[in-house]
Amino acid sequence: MKNARVEVKNEAKATVSRELFGSFVEHMGRCVYGGIYDPSDPSADEDGFRTDVLELAKEMGVSIVRYPGGNFVSGYNWEDGVGPKEQRPTRLDLAWRSIESNQFGLNEFMAWIKKLSAEPIMAMNLGTRGVSEAAQLVEYANTDHGTALSELRKEHGVKDPHGVKYWCLGNEMDGPWQIGHKNASDYGKLAKETAKAVRLVDPDVKLVACGSSFEEMPTFGDWEQTVLELCHEEVDLISLHAYYEKYGDDTLSFLASSARMDRFINRVAAIADQVAEKKGSDKKINLAFDEWNVWYQEKFEGVNNLEFRSAPRLIEDEYSVEDAVVVGSLLMTLLKNSERVSMACQAQLVNIIGPIRTEPGVPAWRQTTFYPFAITSKVAGFEVLDTAVDAEKQDCKLFKDLPMADFVVTRSPGGDAVVIFCLNRQLEEETHLEIDLAMISEEMKIVATHCLGGGELEKTNSQNYPENVTPTSLEKCEFSSGLLKASLPPVSWSVIELSV
Ligand code: AHR
Repeated sequence: MKNARVEVKNEAKATVSRELFGSFVEHMGRCVYGGIYDPSDPSADEDGFRTDVLELAKEMGVSIVRYPGGNFVSGYNWEDGVGPKEQRPTRLDLAWRSIESNQFGLNEFMAWIKKLSAEPIMAMNLGTRGVSEAAQLVEYANTDHGTALSELRKEHGVKDPHGVKYWCLGNEMDGPWQIGHKNASDYGKLAKETAKAVRLVDPDVKLVACGSSFEEMPTFGDWEQTVLELCHEEVDLISLHAYYEKYGDDTLSFLASSARMDRFINRVAAIADQVAEKKGSDKKINLAFDEWNVWYQEKFEGVNNLEFRSAPRLIEDEYSVEDAVVVGSLLMTLLKNSERVSMACQAQLVNIIGPIRTEPGVPAWRQTTFYPFAITSKVAGFEVLDTAVDAEKQDCKLFKDLPMADFVVTRSPGGDAVVIFCLNRQLEEETHLEIDLAMISEEMKIVATHCLGGGELEKTNSQNYPENVTPTSLEKCEFSSGLLKASLPPVSWSVIELSV
């Protein structure tokens, strides 16, 4: 048994943005076709949307959804996906070597997201296209001045402007795999000019510049610096992307993913602040972690080996309990950094490395990774409280001085609910947690506990066993006179809900 002590200060470190609980829908594999949209499925509604997927996305508490890519967007003509469906062209999607029917496009996505009661983040193609097409897309989507483009939207059956606030200025433009990949200064100039034009069309937009595709990119750091030096005043946010996986049987390094994510966030924030200082600007660029997840990239055969097919089965990873523990810990890192990370999207929503899985004709099911997202988005309070953690540290292959336990404490707006998120990285042993909550109140009640992990880490959910894994509760957890004591199972993610 190991020990961890946490002191909670009655002081908010940051306000939690609801936009941290975002997801991502890309025209890739079976995320759109056969995922959110499948008119032939028994669960489909009048628009062809799978209602079971929609219900599960609601249960997850998804607040914002990025669309239509991803790598896909860098070769996409948005005009192909609007207007009468029978007139829409079928095209090659070069990013994922697929056949794109364009039966689902901008207006279908907006109708779907309305049913979800979430907000869109639209990505623009800055790979094969540029300033003019981006400005036209915003004019089509967001304006009502009686121009050809706003009238065209009305002809397409959408009377009112969509009012899309968040726009990504391209996707992963630092990556050589990206169609229309650019160096940092070419991209920075293009992002600046696109931002200027788009703001002239709609001054209310919030714009996300592309950061690095992952922290280990050889250009990481220089890329952020150069891009922000060029477009600092024109953009609002910079993106971060990161996918984590387990290498061999190195569970501890896998559990270090959230510490790596934390370091990545701090590095990007520091660069953004340096650029602001150099420019003498008061403007604070916030971070959009608009692609994150666990993804076993080692298992992916790669794009070049794919045959052109419609909605192919791509990267449909089946997630284990251990993966869910890591997803829970990544959400803790996002919460912890909510002062700076104002938006985040788990990539992707369904089938493609998704927390939701579908097969034709049968009900959709929850992967293990569904639970930490749904629980966090439901119970995470309004503000993150300042904490001081005393826990053992260890080195692992991918991280030095890794704290073997991690905690985040949030509080509701009225202060009547406190939630403690816990990660135990110990591989074999329980961690005995003592958390001093006296600064908040001597009198609290444990309302509920949730736990994933502690054993059978390889278990998964599947079509035949959709509820093989569900969260359990903590066996040992008690509160008395301002002190909460709990035993956290080895390799586990837990949540303790308290009422004040
Ligand atoms: O989410 C899958 C892919 O990962 C996205 O298309 C791309 O942006 C990232 O590399």
